Amino acid sequence: MGHDVKDVSLASKGQRRIEWAEQDMPVLRLIRERFAREKPLAGARLAACLHVTTETAVLMRTLVAGGAKVALCASNPLSTQDDVAAALARFDRMAVFAIKGEDHKTYYRHIHQALDTKPHLSMDDGADLVSVLHKERTRELGGVLGGTEETTTGVIRLRSMAAEGALRYPIVAVNDAQTKHMFDNRYGTGQSTVDGIQRATNRLIAGSTFVVCGYGWCGRGVAWRAHGMGASVVVVEVNPVRALEAVMDGFRVMPIGAAARIGDIFCTLTGDINVVRREHFAVMKDGAVVANSGHFNVELDLPGLAKMAKSRRRIREFVEEFRLASGRRVYILAEGRLINLAAAEGHPACVMDMSFANQSLSAEHMIRNHGKMKPAVYPVPEKLDMQIARLKLRALEIRIDTLTPEQKKYLTSWKEGT
Ligand code: ADE
Repeated sequence: MGHDVKDVSLASKGQRRIEWAEQDMPVLRLIRERFAREKPLAGARLAACLHVTTETAVLMRTLVAGGAKVALCASNPLSTQDDVAAALARFDRMAVFAIKGEDHKTYYRHIHQALDTKPHLSMDDGADLVSVLHKERTRELGGVLGGTEETTTGVIRLRSMAAEGALRYPIVAVNDAQTKHMFDNRYGTGQSTVDGIQRATNRLIAGSTFVVCGYGWCGRGVAWRAHGMGASVVVVEVNPVRALEAVMDGFRVMPIGAAARIGDIFCTLTGDINVVRREHFAVMKDGAVVANSGHFNVELDLPGLAKMAKSRRRIREFVEEFRLASGRRVYILAEGRLINLAAAEGHPACVMDMSFANQSLSAEHMIRNHGKMKPAVYPVPEKLDMQIARLKLRALEIRIDTLTPEQKKYLTSWKEGT
């Protein structure tokens, strides 16, 4: 099948970085040991469209240990770690198709190359594999047994496909497992997003007005980390319950039109389109920094900003300056793409351990159970979610209590009252 990576000579550096990540992925290591003994994925061809990072490499090796034949392509043009892609191509002889900074055409060519392996299973982060299969390669759908989906945006896309009756095979929504979104989306996105903004700009967070658009699990994570670093956090949210939660968490809440005038740093994590628009860019302070950490690069109206700008230039890696007619400058980070993966390294291995434990066990679940599953979006079985939490606690050497028989009985009886 071959590969398409930037530079195979980066492989040794990538290998050492993968080993570093693996040290912080004890749950996945345990799963890999069992997979190597039991080979639950024997004979399965799997195409994965994920961010090609050190953590993803550990997942790929786990799936291979389980007997799968794997092809990997990027789920974002800017998130690939070229040394990691090189290590997988060279040391694992894996079919890897991913180059950091690849253009739109190459991005889709790589997706097609992964699909050319005729997968039985798809593993997506954003549903691009599923989407290309259902739009452009429908004749191949019959060979696909099932799939998994990593992220909120992908799950939303898949649910709308299922609601329209368009989805042709079953998918497990890994994102919805508690051991995924409560940790990866919150603590992973929180830390890596602030890390990406810092690495791109080297701006001081303390004392800044930091506007977080979206107060889902990801937005909560970013708001809390920015707060922890001394920012004055403003939350923009359309859901009234989440907006109330942000208020009671101690943050100022207001519409984007008002926040646009006072923010020093903006970050969108809503999953929706055109959250920051021309009228908002027009009133921003000189020097405002604007980033996106939502899955797709649609949250900032960059075509609109480009039309308003008198001039633009790249001033630092991942920082583009747009000068407006008023003379004010707005700085867009990483072309509005996922800032945590473009300018930093994505979520730390410690949280990806649980996300990718869910991916591995969901792939195994799909192989064992696909015959009983209709084309629909399924949750990760709760038993697996709890098993992952238990293994993670054990790896962290944290013990917890179990209910006494008396307590168990009390929780299932309705007769005892005041
Ligand atoms: N998504 C966010 N962070 C990631 C990482 N480190 N690896 C793979 N996917 C990710």
